[in-house]
Amino acid sequence: MEKIIEVKNLTKTYGKKTNKFTALKDINLSIYEGESVAIVGKSGSGKSTLMHLLALLDKPTRGTVIIDGKDASKLKNKELNRIRNKKFGFVFQQFFMNPKDSVLENVLLPLKIAKRSIFRRKKIAEEALKIVDLESKAKNKATDLSGGQKQRVCIARAIVNNPSIIFADEPTGNLDSATGDKIIKLLFDLNREKGVTLIIVTHDEDLAKLCGRVIRISDGQIVGESTAKGVKAEKAEAKGAKGAKVAKKPAAAKKGGKK
Ligand SMILES: Nc1ncnc2c1ncn2[C@@H]1O[C@H](COP(=O)(O)OP(=O)(O)OP(=O)(O)O)[C@@H](O)[C@H]1O
Ligand SMILES: [Mg+2]
Repeated sequence: MEKIIEVKNLTKTYGKKTNKFTALKDINLSIYEGESVAIVGKSGSGKSTLMHLLALLDKPTRGTVIIDGKDASKLKNKELNRIRNKKFGFVFQQFFMNPKDSVLENVLLPLKIAKRSIFRRKKIAEEALKIVDLESKAKNKATDLSGGQKQRVCIARAIVNNPSIIFADEPTGNLDSATGDKIIKLLFDLNREKGVTLIIVTHDEDLAKLCGRVIRISDGQIVGESTAKGVKAEKAEAKGAKGAKVAKKPAAAKKGGKK
């Protein structure tokens, strides 16, 4: 299994002088291709901050993010944008959808940025809307949807460029359990069938259990890490059992299907 993201000594400090607040302290972490990883912890513990740094949406104060073996701080903006557009999919709770645009136009956007042909764009976006069961809403204004439907539009938009990693920040927050389950199933289907790496921030312990690995954060530090088997990842790695760090995908996906 290839390392897809590695972070070394990651520290993030917000604000200046007396307002300084260190949200992340010296985080070291590797994520492997095809894994499903949950990041859990109390409100304010630094989960979204970590997610933003991993997804190259923000820059660390200290430390490095290595993506596909390359130091992200050495990449030009153009290359960073390309990675975010082609390699990453984002499912964020309050993700900015363009309110004036239709559902279809919102889903088309990443394809437009990726310069796909107008014909292909439309086909791929329609296909993605079918997957999230929203074809009938393609022409609606994105703002005229329910919360769960908006969440599904976000998923459609996150998958159109066949990302290798999906970052999901509380993908089921504020949703009823049936809609939440649908979204979870969708994400784990992508993980199982297309090998998409999932990085999910969640308060939901049931959702975390479906992931191959759970990383616990408290006060900006990793305080615990467990895999589907309950093996302490660092210990296993220290013994040379590198595979133990990798998600037990079939088990996790099966559970995802059952939910
Ligand atoms: N732009 C910012 N400026 C100053 N402090 C910030 C900023 N963004 C986040 N913080 C602080 O950093 C800490 C971590 O925030 P973060 O958003 O990562 O928490 P979280 O674990 O995602 O919490 P939640 O579960 O509530 O979403 C918090 O104490 C927060 O107040
Ligand atoms: Mg958060």
